[in-house]
Amino acid sequence: MSQQNRKDSQNENKECKNCIADQLHYIVTPLLQWYDNHARVLPWRENPEPYAVWISEIMLQQTRVEAVKPYFDRWMEAFPSIFDLAAASEEEVLKLWEGLGYYSRVRNIHKTAKIVTKDYGGELPRSFDALIKLPGIGEYSAGSIGSIAFQLQVPCVDGNVLRVVTRITAEEADITEASTKKLLTQWVRTIVPAQRPGDFNQALMELGATICLPNGIPKCESCPVAHLCEAFRRSQVTDFPVKKPKAERRKEKRTVLLLIRKGSVAVRKRPDSGLLAGLWEYPNYSAELTESDVIEELEKKGLSPLNLTKLKKAKHIFTHLEWHMNGYLITLRDDGKDSSADEEYQWIESDVLKERLTIPAAFKAYHQILLDTFCSQDKFQGAPNSDSY
Ligand code: ADE
Repeated sequence: MSQQNRKDSQNENKECKNCIADQLHYIVTPLLQWYDNHARVLPWRENPEPYAVWISEIMLQQTRVEAVKPYFDRWMEAFPSIFDLAAASEEEVLKLWEGLGYYSRVRNIHKTAKIVTKDYGGELPRSFDALIKLPGIGEYSAGSIGSIAFQLQVPCVDGNVLRVVTRITAEEADITEASTKKLLTQWVRTIVPAQRPGDFNQALMELGATICLPNGIPKCESCPVAHLCEAFRRSQVTDFPVKKPKAERRKEKRTVLLLIRKGSVAVRKRPDSGLLAGLWEYPNYSAELTESDVIEELEKKGLSPLNLTKLKKAKHIFTHLEWHMNGYLITLRDDGKDSSADEEYQWIESDVLKERLTIPAAFKAYHQILLDTFCSQDKFQGAPNSDSY
């Protein structure tokens, strides 16, 4: 192909793509009709007041709708207003987020509640520009809160929306590129209707979450806009969105210790920055330790292991990292001596662990074994040697 021909063909292609994007507005009416009949009944949708929309939208960035529901209900019961949230301690706020992960999100919620209490009389500001200045509120959250709670005519584009829009337009640009996200957000911006902007944005997300599914299982036969979908017309739905493969996650071996002494378990606080910053954890090492390595490490700290039980292996996946863990439950002798471990660890009883401390989900497998198996009458107990946990 000559250079001129290639240029012409690229231009044609561009024009053609713009044609398809120009058709995007046709989805608005059928999508809203579909949403009226198929929207899931969700606690924060019954009364979409700004505080509830804000909390639910941040939680929904962490996990699926079904998993969010109990967290949302517990949260609203504990902190019925932004004032209550601002007045709570960080410990209380973290505890209600326990298991959702990405704890900087909840710390930002807390910061924002304090700012909103101080500067806005306890009510979220009603403009996109003021919302986006608050900690933890980016383009997506300002768009979702702005459109759902305040009826602002702004887009909110999450992964579900990127999938829906690239399929409808058969857009081949890589959605992991910021420029693609910008382009698609711009397309959605042009079609968000002045009437019902929040419902429209939620309808797009809902379609992505329930019909226009990823991983090769879209339910095109139930899609209200299949007749407008270019990827469907070409029988290429599962070819979209185009995404460059993710970099492989780093894998790290860890050994987690459940140390029990006088009915209490050892925990320590993680550093204030980095992974799981400032959260509590069980003592752990970034290597796979054998039983004799563990005994040696404990003795170095002046602790005397009485009994050691090997626990099941466990795995936790972070965004860029995987922990492959082994664990031990160890009963320690109370020999009344001071040990260097007493500076590093806090020894806590089970009611404090259950009610106050936030143990990140990375330790969930061992945390659960500890609570289910070794906790009786509010005290922790050791266990006979066994490989069964
Ligand atoms: N995902 C995130 N927010 C959502 C919402 N409001 N409706 C449907 N899916 C969502």
